[in-house]
Amino acid sequence: MKSPLRIGIAGLGTVGAGVIRIIQNNDDLIARRAGRPVVITAVSARSRRKDRGVDLSAYDWEDDPVALARREDVDVLVELIGGEDGPAKAAVAAALEAGKDVVTANKAMLAIHGNELAALAETAGRALRFEAAVAGGIPVIKTLSEALAGNRIERVMGVMNGTCNYILTRMESEGRSYDEVFAEAKALGYLEADPRLDVGGIDAGHKLALLAAIAFGTRVDFPSVVLEGIERVSITDIELARDLGYRIKLLGVARMTGRGLEQRMQPCLVPADSPIGRVEGATNIVMIEGDAVGPIVLEGAGAGEGPTASAVVGDIIDIARGLRLPVFGQPAHTLEAAPPARVATPAPYYLRLLLEDRPGALAKVAQALGEAGVSINRMRQYRHDTPAAPVLIVTHRAAEEAIHQAVAAIREVDVNLDEPVALRIEEI
Ligand code: HSE
Repeated sequence: MKSPLRIGIAGLGTVGAGVIRIIQNNDDLIARRAGRPVVITAVSARSRRKDRGVDLSAYDWEDDPVALARREDVDVLVELIGGEDGPAKAAVAAALEAGKDVVTANKAMLAIHGNELAALAETAGRALRFEAAVAGGIPVIKTLSEALAGNRIERVMGVMNGTCNYILTRMESEGRSYDEVFAEAKALGYLEADPRLDVGGIDAGHKLALLAAIAFGTRVDFPSVVLEGIERVSITDIELARDLGYRIKLLGVARMTGRGLEQRMQPCLVPADSPIGRVEGATNIVMIEGDAVGPIVLEGAGAGEGPTASAVVGDIIDIARGLRLPVFGQPAHTLEAAPPARVATPAPYYLRLLLEDRPGALAKVAQALGEAGVSINRMRQYRHDTPAAPVLIVTHRAAEEAIHQAVAAIREVDVNLDEPVALRIEEI
């Protein structure tokens, strides 16, 4: 058997401890599959004394992750510190410059600095792998960059933040408000230290930007992701959307259009009986549409110790096998700088209005929609005991700009009693 692959782990949180547990428990099968043993030589974290529930006594300790990255007896740096800059990026850059391979779960760092780090890795002839960074235990990076490499990718989409999906499905199942369920999720420790990363769509936007780069052969362009979080999703919309046969998801969609690369992470309605519509709780789902393969659906745990560590260890084993692929599926210098699509692909929209219930009210709304070029597909007015009538409209496919124009006009109509709500419906 070949010489052991020696790894150094920087960051001993939940995922770091999970990686150690897998390597300790499954060392025999890992060695057989990798063709060589995988051994941990050294680790690094902020606190040496903290009990992490795993035995660290056999490993050297480094206070400084950069020193860990440069150690002679470390072949692969496993970066699990997190954060887009700071020690995580410094350690990854130091490792690549020192000729070591890197495995990371750090989506923020790659979404912001991925182009630069990919170039660094490829110039050094080393691997930079990040399966765990997108949708945790779901092997979506491998699927896109390896299994589907022969396909022209038409669309990648998915629910890639478990916390947001937990909040949305809990609101629906318990009929509770966003604020109540958010507070519960926070108390349970489900939210990132900065909750905006989750509920603001940033974490999921990072993941979408990484998938888009691989899917479309483009440079990672997180700043161009159209981002909207779930804070404005109300229980009323969740319930009414359900009544129309839809569920609301924080949905990421990336597609290459004639107008450029479209990357959107926003609350959308999806058919309730579609694979994405059926996703419950903290589960993640990614759907990839390739010209040859058709639609592929990958679903599973997007976070947590076991699933995320599983993805990290899979990457380590690939490196132990000698597999070194371009970071984003093709050499970094060949990734295109695609212009961001400034306008969204036309889609049907859900409109919720509150109108004064008097003759001609709907006619005024219909006129505003007609003048904006928006055509009504379905409409429902709900039973009410007040002078205010709740009205739902599902439009035919419309340009986002036309919907904005229609909503602005409806706001000014004298029978309009509340701020209109407009949500995109993604066709699946
Ligand atoms: N906070 C993320 C989620 C996991 O809830 O899915 C890490 O990306």
